[in-house]
Amino acid sequence: MNLNEIKALKERLANELKKIENICDLEQFRLKYLIRKGEINDLLEDLKGLSLEEKRTFGPALNDFKKTIVSLFEEKKKKIVLSCEECFFDYTAPGKKQEIGSLHPITLITKKILEVFNSFGFEIFETNEVESEYYNFDSLNIAKDHPARDMWDTFWLDKKYVLPLGVKSEKYKAENLLLRTHTSPAQMRYMENHQSPIRMITPGKSFRYEATDARHEFQLHQIEALMIDKDISIANFKSIITDLIRTILEDKSLDVRFRPSYFPFVSPGLEIDVECFKCHGKNKNKHCSLCSNSGYIEMMGAGMVHPNLYKSAKWDSYDYQGFAFGLGVERFAMLRYQIPDIRIFNSGDLRFVKQFKRF
Ligand code: DAH
Repeated sequence: MNLNEIKALKERLANELKKIENICDLEQFRLKYLIRKGEINDLLEDLKGLSLEEKRTFGPALNDFKKTIVSLFEEKKKKIVLSCEECFFDYTAPGKKQEIGSLHPITLITKKILEVFNSFGFEIFETNEVESEYYNFDSLNIAKDHPARDMWDTFWLDKKYVLPLGVKSEKYKAENLLLRTHTSPAQMRYMENHQSPIRMITPGKSFRYEATDARHEFQLHQIEALMIDKDISIANFKSIITDLIRTILEDKSLDVRFRPSYFPFVSPGLEIDVECFKCHGKNKNKHCSLCSNSGYIEMMGAGMVHPNLYKSAKWDSYDYQGFAFGLGVERFAMLRYQIPDIRIFNSGDLRFVKQFKRF
C-alpha cells in the first residue's frame, strides 16, 4: 500500500460513480464497496497489520478516501432519485412493517356462537336489514295497536328514498318499511320456507330509534335462534343455552337462571340471566357495577314459539313445538371482555380493536 495507490483508487471510484446513471448500478456500487464487508472496509482492515508509523501515514489517507467516496455516493443518490420518477422507490430504505390484522370483538363473539350452534346442526340463515312492518311486527304476533310495539323504538323508512334502492317485491311496495328492530323476523322468513324439524340461527344488525349512552346504541348486533321439532322442550333449550353462556364466558361453573318474562312471539316467555361473575352475588356490602348487587346479569330473551307464529307461517299441523331466543352480541362481548361502554364498538379506534384474542 502506498499513498499514490490510494489516490489512484479514489480517482477510479470517483470516476465509476460519475458514470453511474441509474439506481440499480448505484446499488451494485454500494454492495461492492460501501457495505460492512465491502472493498473499502477491507482496505481499512488491512491497516491493522501495519506498524504504528505506517498507520500514521495511511490511516488519515484511507479515512479521507472513504469519506470522499461516501459523500460522492450520497450526492449521486440524491441526484438520481430527484431526476427519475421511478426512482422514488428507494431500494435502500428500510421496509415498512406490515401490520397483522385482527378481528373485531363483535366478529369474534359472533363467530364463536355460530360455531357452537353449527356443531349442533343449526343452519346459518341471514335476512334483510330493511324489513316490512309485517315481518318485524304483525307476523310475530305483535298487533298494530298492541302496547308491546313500544318495546321496540323504530326507525321508519320513507319509501320515497328506499324503493329506488332496489326493493323489488310488489308486496314490499305496498308495505310500511323500517330498519328491523330485532332479528326475530328471520324466524318467520325461515318458517315460511321450511317445515319442522328446524334448527336455524341468524346473526345480524338491528336498529333502535333511541338515544345512545354507555349501555345503548341505535345499531346493535343480535343472534337469533329457532329450533322446532316434535318433542322440543324448555329442557333442550336450557341445556344448550347454559352450555353456550358458560363457553363464551369461559367459566363452566356459572349458574344460569331462567325467569318468566313477556315477548309476544313466545309463550311462555323467558329472560335468561347468568350469575354475576364479578361478585357472584356474595359481596352485598360493596357495590357491584356489573350486576348492581342483584347477583345476576341479564343475557337474552327466549321462550317457546307462540302458536300464532305457526298460523302466520301457514303451517298446517300442530304436531311440533320449539324454542327461540335472541341475544345481543355487544352485551356478550362487553361481559366477556369487560368493556364498559357500548359506543366504543363503532368508534373505529384501532387501538381498541387490536386487543382481542380469538377463543
Ligand atoms: N327479539 C327480542 C328483542 O330484541 C329478543 C327475543 C326475545 C328473541 C324472545 C326471541 C325470543 O327469539 O324468543 O328484544
